[in-house]
Amino acid sequence: MLHNPVVDTMMVRKSIRRFQDKVPTEEVVEAIVRAGQQAPFAYQLCSLLLCRNAAENPFHAPLLFTFCVDSHRLERVMALRGWKMVTNDLSLLLFGIQDASLLGENMVIAAESLGLGSCYLGSTPYRAAEIVEEYALPPRVFPLVQLAMGYPAEDPPPRPRYPLEFTLFEDRYPEMGDEMVREAIFDALGPIGGLRVLDLFAGTGAMGLEALSRGVRECVFVEEDPRVCAVLKANIAALEYEPHSQVINAGYLHALRILARGGPGFDLLFLDPPYRMLSEVEGLLMPLLPSVLADGGVAVVEGGRATEVTLGGDPVFDRTYGDTRVVMVKMRRTAT
Ligand SMILES: Cc1cc2nc3c(=O)[nH]c(=O)nc-3n(C[C@H](O)[C@H](O)[C@H](O)COP(=O)(O)O)c2cc1C
Repeated sequence: MLHNPVVDTMMVRKSIRRFQDKVPTEEVVEAIVRAGQQAPFAYQLCSLLLCRNAAENPFHAPLLFTFCVDSHRLERVMALRGWKMVTNDLSLLLFGIQDASLLGENMVIAAESLGLGSCYLGSTPYRAAEIVEEYALPPRVFPLVQLAMGYPAEDPPPRPRYPLEFTLFEDRYPEMGDEMVREAIFDALGPIGGLRVLDLFAGTGAMGLEALSRGVRECVFVEEDPRVCAVLKANIAALEYEPHSQVINAGYLHALRILARGGPGFDLLFLDPPYRMLSEVEGLLMPLLPSVLADGGVAVVEGGRATEVTLGGDPVFDRTYGDTRVVMVKMRRTAT
């Protein structure tokens, strides 16, 4: 891949959630916002709010920007010129979202190049009423997303992305079979050789078997249905993974309680229950997870589009393909 300072800056960017107290100077703020304004806008249908009170954002960042979709300003300009807006509201909203996003991302990159870090806050639209009041926003100015920014007090590694061939589809969109999605998940996980894996709703073992083919040390498969278990065991035998596999024919809670006795020895957990069960499973699983999953271990959760899981860890990956949402959560807690 080609390198230059701009590309290199973009390739190592990551969201920053811990910040130093050091406050960026006026000059730095101006450079970042001006660089943001040079984004390729449709209509400049966006405006920017700034709050410098670190206590006002969850990351205690010295700067908190709020990106607004703003038709009010354009309407004021047009009114002064005696022009009338003919574009419909949906178009204004779509272009406004694009303009605000482009402004934001240009600012993220400019900030990164100046040694600052940032993290978006997606809860903004849900707090719209509060923000409208706080900043005295006029009608037709909608707070879309916020960006916490400052000098980083952490240096996490850049988070993984899909492989290029899963993102760039030339001439024709490919048919997205299970195998392709699985491939993308494992690519996002990076090297997993030597890890210990727990496949908790194993079914016929697709995820665990793929992990074994990528060199994990051991995979423990948990499957409740004895008939499915028989197929799973046959699959393991056919691929000659028996020395590296253990199959537990039990419900997930019972299996977890047994496994917890061995301590938090798993590095990777696959969790793919029937979608309708996921929230119930999350609730029951959370207190047990620290007893089986090592500190820094990753849980890979597959659910439906509306899946909302954290398992009490840091989300490191979150993507939706078709009707499937894949969330990867890194566990921070050690066993208690
Ligand atoms: C629109 C949007 C909203 C986001 N909201 C949040 C948030 O509320 N909290 C958070 O910790 N990260 C949030 N993020 C950051 C993402 O979690 C982060 O970009 C993603 O995990 C990828 O990690 P990376 O930015 O380090 O590559 C948001 C990102 C975007 C684009």
